[in-house]
Amino acid sequence: MTYASFKSIGAYIPQDIRTNQWFVDRMDTTNEWITKRTGISERRIASSDENTSDLGTKAALVALQRANLEAKDIDLIVCATISPDYLCMPSTACMIADKLGIKDVMAFDISAACTGFIYALSTAKAFIESGMKKNVLIIGAEKLSNIVDYTDRTTCMLFGDGAGAAVISTTNNKDEAIVDINCSADGSMQDLLLTPGVASNEAMFMQMKGNETFKVAVRTLTSDVQKIMEKNGYKNEDIDLFIPHQANYRIIKAVGDALKFEDNQKVLTVDKYGNTSSASIPMAINECYEDGRLKNGSTMLLDAFGGGLTWGSSIVKFNG
Ligand code: ACO
Repeated sequence: MTYASFKSIGAYIPQDIRTNQWFVDRMDTTNEWITKRTGISERRIASSDENTSDLGTKAALVALQRANLEAKDIDLIVCATISPDYLCMPSTACMIADKLGIKDVMAFDISAACTGFIYALSTAKAFIESGMKKNVLIIGAEKLSNIVDYTDRTTCMLFGDGAGAAVISTTNNKDEAIVDINCSADGSMQDLLLTPGVASNEAMFMQMKGNETFKVAVRTLTSDVQKIMEKNGYKNEDIDLFIPHQANYRIIKAVGDALKFEDNQKVLTVDKYGNTSSASIPMAINECYEDGRLKNGSTMLLDAFGGGLTWGSSIVKFNG
């Protein structure tokens, strides 16, 4: 039997730090409002010559090196993004394949907003466990500063840029495998988060009904985890790291408290990076890897929610 295992993680964090003061200097807001309502102190902004595919490629190179693989060993690239280099085509995954020097590979993008990385993980698992692919590169990459409306004080301070990537490979050992993934969507709540763009000829900026989204996020993130834990017979003490999508400290706290995770199990990066959509979970996994909290054999619980609406969760053994 062939299983999918999470072999490596990498990330790219843009250099430029944008603090809350940047917003205070330009609009009617305060540092206190932003930190109290969101938990965000700063976020990273990519430079004008860095596109989403550049961020994704840099993260991918780290993940490949940590998996002891070369780019030519990859037989599928899946990039989750809502801020692609180009509007409809070519896909950001194709741009990344080219930047990695891979000429003959299946490559495509996933549009599932902040749940994108979990959708990509689910896709990789399915391709590997069906026997179609062996080494899948999955990426969450966002240059959200391209699609944020910096005149809208209710959304603009939430978002940042960045990328994370992982290599998912075959294993015959069930103990090394990704335990389970659940991905779902409900299009009837499409109006909570959207970029009008092509469909309406309006600007390409993100619009969000923040308060309504907040409530649905807390409800969905909590019930999603309860379902996957129960289905797999997992208890809180079986989880080493609870890594939720980093949208807002208050959402993470409410979900973490409802699920009764200990502080040392919860992973928080939203204070430094803001919401980086599909990049937020792999960037957080990478941080745990680099600071030594994520080790070979650690069990991660991933949990995300985003525009669509989409949501998903996964129990993952780290095999890096
Ligand atoms: N500075 C000062 N005041 C502000 C600001 C600001 N930047 N923005 C809004 N306000 C005001 C509002 O006008 C409102 O004023 P009023 O009471 O006089 O009407 C007041 O602050 C409260 O506004 P709310 O929208 O109710 O504030 P809330 O506590 O909900 O926080 C926030 C807003 C931070 C956006 C929160 O709702 C949130 O995080 N929502 C969820 C985001 C999310 O999870 N998105 C999903 C993933 S993103 C994706 O998929 C791409």
